[in-house]
Amino acid sequence: MKRLFDKRVVLFTGKGGVGRSTITAALAKAAAKEGKRVLVTEVGDDPNDYSPLARHFGRDRLPLGVEELAPGIRGVMLLARSGQEAFMRSVLRSATLARAAIGNDAIRRLLSAGPSFREMGVFFQLLTYLREPGKGGAPEYELILIDMPATGHTLSLTGLPQVLLNLLPRGPIADALREGQTYLNDPAKAAAYVVVLPETLPVTECFELLHGLERTRMNVGGIFLNRVPQDPFTEEERAALEGLLKRTPALGNNGFQRAVVAKRERARLLAGTPLPVFQIPDLGDQGLLEAMGRALDGIRPIERQGGAA
Ligand SMILES: Nc1ncnc2c1ncn2[C@@H]1O[C@H](COP(=O)(O)OP(=O)(O)O)[C@@H](O)[C@H]1O
Ligand SMILES: [Mg+2]
Repeated sequence: MKRLFDKRVVLFTGKGGVGRSTITAALAKAAAKEGKRVLVTEVGDDPNDYSPLARHFGRDRLPLGVEELAPGIRGVMLLARSGQEAFMRSVLRSATLARAAIGNDAIRRLLSAGPSFREMGVFFQLLTYLREPGKGGAPEYELILIDMPATGHTLSLTGLPQVLLNLLPRGPIADALREGQTYLNDPAKAAAYVVVLPETLPVTECFELLHGLERTRMNVGGIFLNRVPQDPFTEEERAALEGLLKRTPALGNNGFQRAVVAKRERARLLAGTPLPVFQIPDLGDQGLLEAMGRALDGIRPIERQGGAA
């Protein structure tokens, strides 16, 4: 996890319900404990949306402006609209003009019809936090953790600079995009982590997401294989039970199969990518955040058979 904490910006991505928010919150706490000045964020569409990420810090939602959530951890919602305003402000060099432009219905409709204006807002807001100078020349937000929304939005964000730079190679927008690229496309500064469950469809989708991230030249730090079930049976017990369960559709068959599927999908994941895979067990729901923190503390990638890196 040291490598993750040394980045400036880390994206957590994957399908809904896989554990992104819990992992983001647990890592924010761990990084703050190491003395990092952390900013936790999530991409939101509506400032009133309930946020499971914010719940981990005792709030219903993340604030629209940066606020302290816990010692060493600040939080803010990345809202397309706030970023768009900041962006227009820097282009028009006037807050009043920017507000007028963004507040104008016709202009807003025009802008949001563009292919990437939503992502542009998020991108620009993120860039503002990345740039923010702190005391003594160090960045104000040393480590920015982003709980990303659905996969499609993640790729729109990571792919944004290239798409827009092809359309607008010069000018203030291009300058902002290039500056953003110096963070996002630099493996020393940025990484995406994919969170996945040990199930068939999720693992297949994880491979697709990895290809997408590669296409957009986003550095991928690794994969969190979350909620891996413990198998309570030995090989012999399994063999004995297997025959029995095949003959009688019994209660518990699903649970029995789940561990088998998890083993198979874990192997498929390890074989399908050379990236580090970090395994997190199913932790139950009592004190999940603390349990997640303990599970991630000093976690190491799964060792691959045959020593392949
Ligand atoms: N390792 C785990 N063990 C047990 N439950 C987990 C684990 N990781 C996540 N969960 C549970 O799964 C659900 C989804 O987690 P969450 O972090 O909100 O996912 P996401 O942000 O990807 O939608 C929550 O109910 C959470 O408590
Ligand atoms: Mg979430």
